[in-house]
Amino acid sequence: MRDVVDAQQLTRLLEGLVENPYMGIIIVNKEGKALIANQTYLDIIGKSEEEVLGRHCLEFTPNSRLHEILETGEVHLADYWPVNGHDTIVARFPIYFEEELLGAIGKSLFLELSEAQILVKKMVELEEELAWYRDAVSSVYQAKYCFDTIVGQNKDLQRLKSMAERLAKTGSTILITGESGTGKELFAHAIHQASPRAHAPFVRVNCVALPENLLESELFGYEEGAFTGARKGGKPGKFELAHRGTIFLDEIGDMPLSMQAKLLTVLQEREVERIGGTKPIRIDVQVLAATNRNLEELVKEGVFREDLYYRLNVVNLRIIPLRQRLDDIPLLVEALLPEINQRLRTRVEQVSPEAVQLLCSYQWPGNVRELENLLERAIILADLNDDNVLDEEHFPSLQKLAAQQGVSPRLVNRTLAEAVEQLEMEMIKKALRQTNNNKTQTAKVLGLHSSVLYRKLNKYDLA
Ligand SMILES: Nc1ncnc2c1ncn2[C@@H]1O[C@H](COP(=O)(O)OP(=O)(O)OP(=O)(O)O)[C@@H](O)[C@H]1O
Ligand SMILES: [Mg+2]
Repeated sequence: MRDVVDAQQLTRLLEGLVENPYMGIIIVNKEGKALIANQTYLDIIGKSEEEVLGRHCLEFTPNSRLHEILETGEVHLADYWPVNGHDTIVARFPIYFEEELLGAIGKSLFLELSEAQILVKKMVELEEELAWYRDAVSSVYQAKYCFDTIVGQNKDLQRLKSMAERLAKTGSTILITGESGTGKELFAHAIHQASPRAHAPFVRVNCVALPENLLESELFGYEEGAFTGARKGGKPGKFELAHRGTIFLDEIGDMPLSMQAKLLTVLQEREVERIGGTKPIRIDVQVLAATNRNLEELVKEGVFREDLYYRLNVVNLRIIPLRQRLDDIPLLVEALLPEINQRLRTRVEQVSPEAVQLLCSYQWPGNVRELENLLERAIILADLNDDNVLDEEHFPSLQKLAAQQGVSPRLVNRTLAEAVEQLEMEMIKKALRQTNNNKTQTAKVLGLHSSVLYRKLNKYDLA
């Protein structure tokens, strides 16, 4: 540089470089006292030259970190530095001349954070990502249903719901039993939501889904180095994650015997020890367990520990099968239909009374889950045919079953005359629907003279 510019030129060049409106510059000597501060810098910190020059950096900017550079020789390439109401990003580095430390320089990379568009964009993205993960984590460990989402007006179900709601307040251990698909998991969520622990985590463990050794680390966690492949820093178990909240041990009847012993100890001591850990961790959790298996039978068979059974069975909530509350079918259908439509992006919004009757005549071994599945299949079938009303023919498996049983269930226990009338009324209603209430066409479809049809419409109050 010295070869092409003379000393005077160089000085002017450097002065011009220092005095620029784009970048705040402060240079301190090795004692940390200000030698140079350009106007842009003075404007940023809101001080005059007299308040700055010759003074220690901490005097005019108490949150300065320039003196750290002098002490450590570190370089700060892009540090967030809030000062005098500005959010700036600064770089700081030491100044050496022939290996001798002369001082340090601080310069603003951006006068305002808002100018750091790339960084801001990156930060916004990161923040969004963080929010997404926070959401995902809390949704994993949050109850999704409450008592209002458990559909049903049936008296026994209502009784069950109010009992569960009262139990939720007491915090006692509850064993939820019932056939597959009756809503045991729904009740577990709702109990947590109605409990004083509603704002703490709800953690479900599926006791059947994992092989024994994995189940143990799922439940109790492990310390770093507990086994080959153990994650760095270890991992908390589900009991720890549920601290102050609820742990839901689902499919408890399928838990291996050796794990049952460990679980019993945890329930008794209210302490867990991570695999490979040395100190017990206290836990405060409400315990809910569910199974569709008969635990008493399993105890007799010797595959379920009796002591664990008693510890879990403090209160038993038996969820009734759907066939014992067939009166809830219309309500359930009404609630499930929009859900399924939304999921499948279909618009099948009604169910014919005959189809509802068909649904009410079935025994539902798979309970509400089976109802959901059959409705889904029926909706797909109806949608393929551009029908927007679910009718008997959209439930072929139930129709077939009804046919096998001989007389249609809704005609059982009636006199022949009543059964004939019932059938006649249903056929007329159906034809009316098919023809969009066109009476002439309805008469044609049914092979009736229109005067006969009108008489019957009056008789059945369909006119
Ligand atoms: N009363 C109800 N109202 C609305 N939906 C219900 C009701 N009961 C059950 N369901 C629905 O039925 C399905 C099965 O319920 P859930 O998973 O709670 O059954 P489960 O008793 O845990 O069955 P399994 O023993 O097979 O695990 C779920 O999709 C649930 O939303
Ligand atoms: Mg379940």
